Parts: sequence; structure tokens; C-alpha cells
Amino acid sequence: MPDNAAPMNPKLSLLQPYPFERLRQLFAGVTPNPAFSPISLGIGEPRHAAPAFLKAALAGALDSGLSNYPATAGEPALRQACADWLQRRYRVLLDPNRQLLPVNGTREALFAVAQTVIDSARPGATVVFPNPFYQIYEGAALLAGAQPFYVASDPARRFATAWERVPAAVWARTQLLYACSPGNPTGAVMPLSEWADLFDLSDRHGFVIASDECYSEIYFGTDDAGAAPLGALQAAQQLGRSDFKNLLTFSSLSKRSNVPGLRSGFVAGDAALIQAFLLYRTYHGSAMSPVVQAASRAAWGDEAHVQDNRRLYREKFSQVTPLLAQVLDVALPDASFYLWAGVPALFAARWPGLSADEAFARDLLAQYNVTVLPGSYLAREVDGHNPGRGRVRMALVAHPAECLQAAGRIVRFCESAAPLN
Ligand SMILES: Cc1ncc(COP(=O)(O)O)c(C=O)c1O
Repeated sequence: MPDNAAPMNPKLSLLQPYPFERLRQLFAGVTPNPAFSPISLGIGEPRHAAPAFLKAALAGALDSGLSNYPATAGEPALRQACADWLQRRYRVLLDPNRQLLPVNGTREALFAVAQTVIDSARPGATVVFPNPFYQIYEGAALLAGAQPFYVASDPARRFATAWERVPAAVWARTQLLYACSPGNPTGAVMPLSEWADLFDLSDRHGFVIASDECYSEIYFGTDDAGAAPLGALQAAQQLGRSDFKNLLTFSSLSKRSNVPGLRSGFVAGDAALIQAFLLYRTYHGSAMSPVVQAASRAAWGDEAHVQDNRRLYREKFSQVTPLLAQVLDVALPDASFYLWAGVPALFAARWPGLSADEAFARDLLAQYNVTVLPGSYLAREVDGHNPGRGRVRMALVAHPAECLQAAGRIVRFCESAAPLN
């Protein structure tokens, strides 16, 4: 390097291309069949309407909300609204002044928590998380100077993460664990027993648990039948851990209220961790706009729009899943808005150099103009095995008619896909 070259953080070179970048490369040179309108099941971006009252709250805050720098801790009224929601949703009581912070979407917070927690001077600093996984966990670990440890999901157990396969030597150097329940892309929800095991390991080895719960409000059972996924704070409280030691949960409005562009969520849990996180965030400059705070307060205070939202997803999943199950290895997930589907084996040898999931996605786009995401892009290969290989992720985010149309095309696509000789 010449002496006068600009310095650069060498850890940046460790970052992997984001899945959608790889998808662009896979689709380069493919001309989608013009006989079909494009339908994307690729990106996990909600497309139902944002509630009108939320937009009104946003607009109503414009006059007063732009003239002062906001505090990183957020306004007390917003923290209270989040704490009230936790109490209604999970029957969890916590102190909104010591145990909760607003964040600008959970993506930035999931990244920032690693920078707050990891001590890279300790040998072998490790961050453990599921495989497949939300890509931010890996980038956060690498930029914090830690090594990722990928834990495969187990298809035989409805894609539960096989935490029991983590060697004791790895637990001994683990500083942070990301859990994702309901999971992206598998939809798997962690039961109380799984939380009990993780809390036990955290007690023994002193690591922090970051529980990503951004799909917690998208589930398929009826609202009054106890179908709502268990949350980590709720699990901790049920297990007598009401100080939430070494635990932080991440809740988001993006999927719950159909506002991925609002950038709003919150983090709650262990008061000591929240205090350290607030310090980090103050320097990082992560205060939430007062305008967004006003809209967020309104959103956390209302459940009617969340119930409407769930009804739409329930309708889509109940129609689309049985259709797709005729041709793919797929079932209704525990929760979330994704189907995590195994593709027919004949796609494995379809194109030289492409895995079955890649070949499926590429041919489906070419023949039927439907975009799905190859599962191998959401996972890493460990010991020769990529747990996303042979699966695709389909986000049922479009309106019901469009999702049904996409499902119809996928059925025709699979039925007409003959082995290439
Ligand atoms: C598993 C998971 N966690 C977190 C996020 C981030 O959500 P947001 O930053 O919008 O709160 C996403 C977004 O797609 C996600 O899939």
C-alpha cells in the first residue's frame, strides 16, 4: 500500500455480499417471460397499507417535531407506550426508564449491540447465531472483531436451531448469541424449554442474548387462542428471571404495522446492558426523530390494525400453502410471513455450477416472472453443508390475489419441469 493511501478498516473486507446482490448476479442476463407480469416474493418488505392513524400522527408532529435535537433515550411517553405494549402482549413488567430504549429500526440496533457488547481483546471472541440467518448478525460480529459461529436449523424439528450441537469450547468463548424467534427465513418459534437451555448456558458462560423478535406479531392461530409466539422476556419472567439478566429483546414496527420506511423499534431487557447501549448510542448518534417518536407511540398503542394485518396474512397462508405443498416440500410455518420451501430434486443437476435453489429461482424468473430468494444465500456452508441449499424463501408480502397468482405459476412451473437429459 502506498504511504499516502487512505486508511481503511480491514474488517470491511470480511463482509459477504448481501443476498440481494447475489440474486442480481444470478438473474443477470435472464429475460423474464414477458407474457407474465412481475411478482416478487423475494424481499421481506411488508406491502400491506400503513394505518391511516399512524400517518396522521406523523403529519401532526411535523410542526413541533423538527426544531430540537432529540434525546437518544427517547421521550418518556414513547418508552412508556413500548413498556405498556410489552405488558399487554407478554404480561411483562419492566421499568421504561432503565430497561428500554427506542431504536431506528431493529436492524441498526442488532448491529450496534455487537459493537457495544463484544470485547475483541478477549481471545476467540465468538458470536453464535442460527444458520440460515438474518445477515446483519454476521456483519455485526465481524465488524466487532468477533468470529461468527453458525448453528444449523434442523429440518426434522420444524427448523428449530440445533443449539445442542455447539461444542462446549465454543460456548466457553461466546460473548453474544443472536436468537431469532419467529425465525427468518424458517418461521420457527422457540418454545420455553429452548429458552431455558439458552438462559442456562448464558448463566454458565456469561454471554449476552440478543433476541430478534421482529416477526412476533405475524402468526396464524386465532388471536384469542394463545397462538401468539412466546417472547424472550416472557420466557425469562416465566422462568423466574425477572431482572432479565444478560438478555435484550428487539421489537419492531416494520412488520407489525407495515411501516418499514418509518425505521422504528425498541430494545428492552437487562438494565445494565441498556445503560451501556445508551452510552454507545449517544456517541453513535442514534436518536429517533420526534416525528417518528409520535407516530411510534400511536402505533404501539393500537392493536386493531395489527389484528387486521394478521387476518390478511392468515388468509394468504391458508390459500397459498396447500397449493404449493402439491409441488414443493413446504408447510405452514409456526409464524412470520415466509414460506421456507424445499425445491424438487431434479433442479440439483439443472445448470452446471448452480445449486438446486439457485436453478429453481433462475428458471422460475425466466419462465414465469416470479422472484424467490435462493435459500443458500441466507446461510453459510459449514463442514460442507449449507442448510439453505435446496430451499427457497418466499415472502408472502404482496396482496392476496397476487400471492395466489404467484402460487399458481409456481405449480405450473414445477409440473412442467422435466429432468433435463
Ligand atoms: C429477522 C429480522 N430481524 C430484523 C429485521 C430488521 O427490521 P427493522 O430494521 O425494519 O426493524 C428484519 C428485516 O427484514 C428481519 O428479517
